Amino acid sequence: MIRCLRFWSFELSRLAAVRFAVLFFIATGDVRAVDTTVISRISFGSCAKQDQPQPIWDTIVAGQPQIFLFLGDNIYGDTNDMNVLKAKYELLGRQPGFRKLKQTCPVMATWDDHDLGANDAGAEYPFKKQSQQIFLDFFEAAPDDDRRTREGIYSSRVFGPPGKSVQIILLDTRYFRSPLKKGFNGQEPGDGYRGVYVPNTDAGVTVLGETQWSWLEEQLKVPAEIRVIGSSYQVLSNQHGWEMWGNFPAERERLFQVLRASKAGGVVMLSGDRHLSEIAGLQADDPAGIGYPLYEVTSSSLNAPSGNFTKAGVRFANEINPWRIGLTFFDVNFGNLLIDWDSPDPVIRLQVCDEKGTVVLQQRAQLSQLQMKP
Ligand SMILES: [Fe+2]
Repeated sequence: MIRCLRFWSFELSRLAAVRFAVLFFIATGDVRAVDTTVISRISFGSCAKQDQPQPIWDTIVAGQPQIFLFLGDNIYGDTNDMNVLKAKYELLGRQPGFRKLKQTCPVMATWDDHDLGANDAGAEYPFKKQSQQIFLDFFEAAPDDDRRTREGIYSSRVFGPPGKSVQIILLDTRYFRSPLKKGFNGQEPGDGYRGVYVPNTDAGVTVLGETQWSWLEEQLKVPAEIRVIGSSYQVLSNQHGWEMWGNFPAERERLFQVLRASKAGGVVMLSGDRHLSEIAGLQADDPAGIGYPLYEVTSSSLNAPSGNFTKAGVRFANEINPWRIGLTFFDVNFGNLLIDWDSPDPVIRLQVCDEKGTVVLQQRAQLSQLQMKP
């Protein structure tokens, strides 16, 4: 028991150190590694309906994550009334499981359409400036956080000591995003369903906007062994017709080009939004490849699974995605990114877990495999 208490005391002081480091980062806007805690367990998730029970937080907290990444649709705001938006955040803030999570580890967040304020919304959402401040208030950004005075909620932090550092880059895929284009809703026999959007190839359309693109290029120069890039919606999967980077093919290609040109190793993508989960991989020898396998874990939803499949009791199914590895999981879920730094060649495990914490999807990679060839 004493040993156990000592362990907990150590764990609590370690977590306090991480929390302090995050507060320091937010206060300074600095991206240097100021915390020496080795990060080996990150959890993440998306799509949480604030007016429904969220029991999955208990499972996430039991796993003792060192950081939690909230990847968007953190609430379903869906309003032009900022008082309603605030009240919906307050409902999330009162969820007992989410309160426990905040006592466990730092929470870093980006948003998607519903927490920006409207379904499938982008740059045209009229209250995005106000929504940004409400988001920053809820996630306790300091008064001098640079996101208070610039447009967009994209952010970056580095955790861990030199040689074992992890950079978290959370993109804002909503504030600047050009309008979607609706089109023919193609159906193939046996293919299930497809969405209503077709690629927008108009000149000048954007996902990130030029300021954020420049910022991302600078972030990729910051020293780090592993770079976790969070995008609210999917990057690789580009044929389902719902929201995705594939709605803007030139921007999707630009992202791969920026990663390729940066020569940054250890990049892993995370995404949400879809009310399904899957792991995909863009292989190094793909014409669009970045020079080594680019893996993407999509985890969604924390408490609102995709209706048609789960009502029928189907947890695993399929959706058109040439890059998917394995199956699509449709029940409630969250993700883990686990790093074994003790291995001579550090091992990264990317997981999707169900509500009980059972691993339902997993991809393993050695850090040496996620490097540009000289
Ligand atoms: Fe969404």
